[in-house]
Amino acid sequence: MSEIEKLREKLKGLNSEYAKIKTLPPEQRGEFGRDLNAQKQQILSAIAAAEAAEKNEKITPIDVSAPCAPNQPIPTIKRGSKHPLMTELERVISIYSEMGFDIMESRQLDDEFHMFDSLNFPKEHPARDGYDTFRTSEGFIPPAHTSTMQHRALKKYQHRLADGGKIAVAIPGRVFRNEDADATHEHTFYQCEGVFVSKDANMGQLFGILKHFFESYYGQKLNLKTQPGYFPFTEPSAEFLIEKPASLGGKGWLEMGGCGMIHPNVLKAAGINPETYSGFAWGGGIDRLAMLKYGLGDVRYFESGKLDFLEEF
Ligand code: DAH
Repeated sequence: MSEIEKLREKLKGLNSEYAKIKTLPPEQRGEFGRDLNAQKQQILSAIAAAEAAEKNEKITPIDVSAPCAPNQPIPTIKRGSKHPLMTELERVISIYSEMGFDIMESRQLDDEFHMFDSLNFPKEHPARDGYDTFRTSEGFIPPAHTSTMQHRALKKYQHRLADGGKIAVAIPGRVFRNEDADATHEHTFYQCEGVFVSKDANMGQLFGILKHFFESYYGQKLNLKTQPGYFPFTEPSAEFLIEKPASLGGKGWLEMGGCGMIHPNVLKAAGINPETYSGFAWGGGIDRLAMLKYGLGDVRYFESGKLDFLEEF
């Protein structure tokens, strides 16, 4: 019989004692009754205490005597980590900084002028549709490429030209396209743009910069090639490709971005005289760089928020 059961039996036993009251002479009844009531109260509190103790046993007790270490990490909480694309973005920025480039960040909401007009896209031209842009109901555009920043970069740094210097800017940023996602396409990804203007900028310098960038990023010699391309903001335009190094698991060429000599209309729109100055620009995806580096087969992992993927970095 448990402690509580014993107490309950004892409580029941009091009933026959209470029944005795009426058999006693009246002068003894008061004291006898008071005594019974006191016993009853005692048993009831003992039952309540036993019930509370039983309940407490079911809760894991806290060891209040454990040493307090408020600065120790709590072991059961997983710590967050830097997103792998941010690590790559910082690497890209540091390579361009070391090469002497200024860094600007692109916007996550832009407008028709910076997305198209300032980049020499003719009004109503089908090339505007080629970028699958999202639009807000107010008519703003989450940029579909980091080229939206070219006009701003040209304006911000053109005073350097007058002083006999050059414009050299790298612009990383997040871009958005309204297209179906698959293993090689995402609606949200990162690009880095480059803009360079001087008195005698030429394609040879452009390819030299690109080759140096890729070799620094992958830490090895790489082959680079270009093929003809079309962009309204460059003339001539090209696409650049790198040859997959064997150490990164492959053969063949990978398209890494677009480039070209900045179109005179783009320079003019920013107030730079294309008769005196020339420039080149390029832009390419950062996700793609990282995919090759880590041997990833699916770009969608980056935006998936999957912890088991993110924890690998
Ligand atoms: N903005 C282009 C794209 O996303 C890539 C590009 C092409 C950037 C040529 C440039 C350029 O700066 O000159 O498809």
